[in-house]
Amino acid sequence: MKKLLLCSALLLGLLSLLPPPALAETFTCLACHSAMKGKVRTDKGSFIEVNIDEQRFSKSVHGGMGCTACHKTFKDNPHERPQADVSRKISELANLVSPKAKVDSVAYAACDDCHGEIYKKVSESIHGKNVIEKRQHDGALCLDCHGSPHYIMPQKSKESMVNRSSVVKTCGECHENEEIAKKYNLGTQIVEKYEESFHGKKYRLGHPGVPTCVSCHGAHDIRKWDDPASPVSWEKRTITCGKCHPGANRRFVASITHKPVGKDNPIPYYAEKGLIVLTMGTIAFVIFHVFLEALADIRDRVFRKKKEEHHD
Ligand code: HEC
Ligand code: HEC
Ligand code: HEC
Ligand code: HEC
Ligand code: HEC
Ligand code: HEC
Ligand code: HEC
Repeated sequence: MKKLLLCSALLLGLLSLLPPPALAETFTCLACHSAMKGKVRTDKGSFIEVNIDEQRFSKSVHGGMGCTACHKTFKDNPHERPQADVSRKISELANLVSPKAKVDSVAYAACDDCHGEIYKKVSESIHGKNVIEKRQHDGALCLDCHGSPHYIMPQKSKESMVNRSSVVKTCGECHENEEIAKKYNLGTQIVEKYEESFHGKKYRLGHPGVPTCVSCHGAHDIRKWDDPASPVSWEKRTITCGKCHPGANRRFVASITHKPVGKDNPIPYYAEKGLIVLTMGTIAFVIFHVFLEALADIRDRVFRKKKEEHHD
């Protein structure tokens, strides 16, 4: 028995010296792609980087995988594309996400093989529906939040785009964009308003417990805020805030908002109007007061002068 184990261990050791087939292909892909530099223009008109940094790729979470685990239709030069290798599920998904893909929608769908549950959530989120149902490319899909699929690092690493230290910036790529805000009727200064909030100020100081965008909205299943399933809908908000503020009631949860000030959001709207009236009123009062005082001063001087003249 012991001998058998030893033999199989030796055999395994020998086998591991040879690269498995998928990795052999990766070496071929990288023979060109790690040496090539620069960008090429695709059929769709966007520019793509052809260089793959071999070291960064091997250090990434997918570094142990072959290129063709995702680029299923790619073989060695000259990039043959045998359709037969791709399952029906992945081809269908590839069609659905095609508005987002620049060069290889099959690779963009391939994440589903290993991250199926997450893919489903994203597809049903407001971001996924924007691409899959509305056929737009403004909504976020995997690579918008995680960056290049070749260099994804674990969330705990500072290099990850969804690390706590960078996630606000990642969401801000689109949620600071005025054009997107106008097109979808979203608030324009969402990130700014977050940064001005009590939470945002403490986030910038590095407080580990304050919420970032994803603590309130979720990450993969983000919904419109007034969808009852959204964690920030009126139905769910007391639970969401209550996770960190035990006993949060309806009045308390209304205190955080980054909605554009307007009709939909009457409390801050009238509060702001009120504040404007109050400020203007105060300034007017001060000016009036200064004016009266100046007048009194002038009158005093004139009188005093007249009195002095009288005495002489
Ligand atoms: C002989 C060199 C060579 C090899 C080997 C090679 N590529 Fe490429 N690849 C290129 C060149 C050149 C381009 C850019 C121009 C083009 O599209 O032909 C490119 C472009 C690409 C693109 C961008 C999409 C496209 O069609 O332009 C992808 C994705 C890609 N290669 C993946 C792979 C994968 C995966 C492998 C291994 C299975 C591989 N390549 C092997 C030379 C190579
Ligand atoms: C985890 C899945 C995955 C792996 C592994 C992977 N790719 Fe990609 N690759 C993608 C996706 C997704 C895209 C973007 C497709 C799109 O936008 O149409 C992409 C795009 C590309 C591009 C176009 C330029 C760019 O960066 O957008 C090249 C070239 C490329 N891959 C080559 C490779 C090579 C070579 C390997 C192996 C060393 C590899 N890929 C491994 C998923 C992967
Ligand atoms: C062949 C299986 C496979 C495919 C295909 C695949 N992944 Fe992964 N992915 C993994 C494994 C394994 C890990 C590392 C273990 C883990 O953390 O779940 C990982 C990790 C990740 C992580 C980081 C998790 C963390 O620790 O923070 C992200 C993000 C990710 N993958 C996104 C993608 C995207 C986007 C695609 C498609 C372009 C994709 N993956 C395709 C297997 C895969
Ligand atoms: C709107 C931004 C966004 C999009 C789109 C997105 N992710 Fe994520 N993803 C995140 C954030 C943020 C985290 C970190 C989890 C957290 O903080 O709760 C994460 C974590 C992960 C993880 C590791 C943790 C886990 O939950 O297992 C994987 C794997 C992953 N994402 C894969 C994907 C894949 C695959 C897609 C596309 C189908 C995708 N993500 C789309 C933002 C996004
Ligand atoms: C403390 C919880 C919390 C945090 C943190 C948070 N949000 Fe919100 N968000 C809300 C609530 C509650 C709403 C519901 C509408 C309102 O009152 O602003 C909302 C609404 C939104 C909306 C819709 C606005 C509209 O006008 O329809 C967007 C987009 C949004 N948030 C994005 C973000 C982004 C991006 C971040 C990070 C910079 C973020 N949120 C951080 C709680 C939060
Ligand atoms: C690639 C751009 C992009 C990125 C990155 C992005 N979003 Fe969005 N987001 C959008 C677009 C576009 C919409 C509106 C989609 C629609 O209505 O069809 C949207 C909608 C939303 C909504 C719903 C707003 C409402 O009406 O209530 C929330 C909440 C939201 N995003 C939060 C986030 C968070 C949190 C992140 C980061 C984890 C993020 N987004 C990253 C583009 C993006
Ligand atoms: C991830 C945890 C977390 C979530 C979720 C969260 N908060 Fe906070 N909040 C904090 C922390 C931590 C502080 C700072 C406490 C301190 O340092 O005094 C804070 C401070 C505040 C403050 C100012 C100080 C105070 O206690 O009165 C308000 C107001 C507030 N949060 C409202 C909300 C509302 C409303 C929601 C839901 C929309 C919410 N928070 C969601 C963690 C959270």
